[in-house]
Amino acid sequence: MNFKLSLLLLTFIVVLTACENKKDKISKTVGGDAASATPTTENYDPKRGEGKYTEASLNLGATIDDAMAESGSKIQGVKCSSCHKLGTEKLVGPGWKGVTTRRTPSWIMNFITNPDPMINKDPELQAQLELCLVRMPNQNLTDDDARHVLEFMRKNDAAK
Ligand code: HEC
Repeated sequence: MNFKLSLLLLTFIVVLTACENKKDKISKTVGGDAASATPTTENYDPKRGEGKYTEASLNLGATIDDAMAESGSKIQGVKCSSCHKLGTEKLVGPGWKGVTTRRTPSWIMNFITNPDPMINKDPELQAQLELCLVRMPNQNLTDDDARHVLEFMRKNDAAK
């Protein structure tokens, strides 16, 4: 009887420590994953995004260049309007109204010239991805194309 009881106790202790070990392992893996994910997002600047553009390199004027905006309007008609409306309403992607106040110019330029790396890192893009269920595809914009589309967005936001 006594022997049986101590055997039971022993089993109980073994099971208990086994669980403890598992828990320990799980928390170690979780901790490990978090630690290894940090370096990629750590250097990510959610204001500027990722890419070659900075506010300084863009050097936007206060006034809108109508010729550039006109060219941007044509480009977006071909490459963007199937997924983006100019108002606030979502189509496949978010509506563009207010985008130049939600995002910095460098963020927009970096994103529209190379969306993929930013979709992987930007917390707000991740949230949009959950809503839209579609990753914005790379539209292969040249630097000039992108700059003209940005000017068009500025004009679209300046209009009441
Ligand atoms: C196939 C659909 C599709 C096309 C075409 C497309 N986009 Fe997008 N866009 C998206 C989706 C979806 C998102 C939301 C982020 C995500 O899930 O990737 C997005 C997000 C954006 C955003 C961020 C908007 C915000 O409010 O934060 C900008 C800016 C943008 N797109 C610009 C463009 C430009 C410029 C073009 C054309 C050159 C374009 N998109 C073409 C689907 C598209």
